[in-house]
Amino acid sequence: MKVINLNNIRIHPSILAADFSNLGDQVKDAESCGADGLHIDIMDGHFVDPITFGPMILENLRNISDLHFDVHLMVENPAKYFSDLVGFGADSITVHYEACESLPEVLDILNGLNVETSVAINPQTKVENLFPYLSRIDRALVMSVNPGYGGQSFIETTLDKISLLKEDISREILNVDIQVDGGINEETAGRVVSAGADILVAGSAVFNKGFTVCHGLNSIRRHCEV
Ligand code: DX5
Ligand code: ZN
Repeated sequence: MKVINLNNIRIHPSILAADFSNLGDQVKDAESCGADGLHIDIMDGHFVDPITFGPMILENLRNISDLHFDVHLMVENPAKYFSDLVGFGADSITVHYEACESLPEVLDILNGLNVETSVAINPQTKVENLFPYLSRIDRALVMSVNPGYGGQSFIETTLDKISLLKEDISREILNVDIQVDGGINEETAGRVVSAGADILVAGSAVFNKGFTVCHGLNSIRRHCEV
């Protein structure tokens, strides 16, 4: 059995699946149970159909949590929101490759802010499209479901994309973490770690009416051993 150094694997629960009537307590539970960051999905009803919440949610959550705030922008014109997000305490910001008319210009703005920089690709987007930008970002997010909704099934072709990305990052000796988002659970966690993922985003496998936040986090962590 191959054992991965779990200290290098980070788990970021996605609040999209949280009970919003009890959001503060759910975030505190995630923090006390060892979450490595909090994944915050902002959707605008244009880039994806659903609308979630705006940057102000970070201001509220910052008052109750010291976790790394990892913002996943599923919006058109993402740069419009950067200064609010940074002001409200974002630690990393992910924009979608598909949402940026000019990714170099968006990265110019993002690289000038005090925040970690990340670019996401949809399941249909070739991972090679990210290669020219890897030297300018801290993370690459590989979507393993179509963006917009929690609770979907993991798309298997993601594994090859993660491996290709890992190979390119190693070949170029770059310091870019691979983040995977969508359908991460006990069954898929080990396989994405094995393919090269560094950060696992998990919504419904952590925030779930069927078990506690600690149980969800612990089971994913246990299954990172492959
Ligand atoms: C989907 C979001 C995900 C979502 C993942 O567009 O980007 O972060 O919360 O949910 P699960 O883990 O339930 O697939
Ligand atoms: Zn997300």
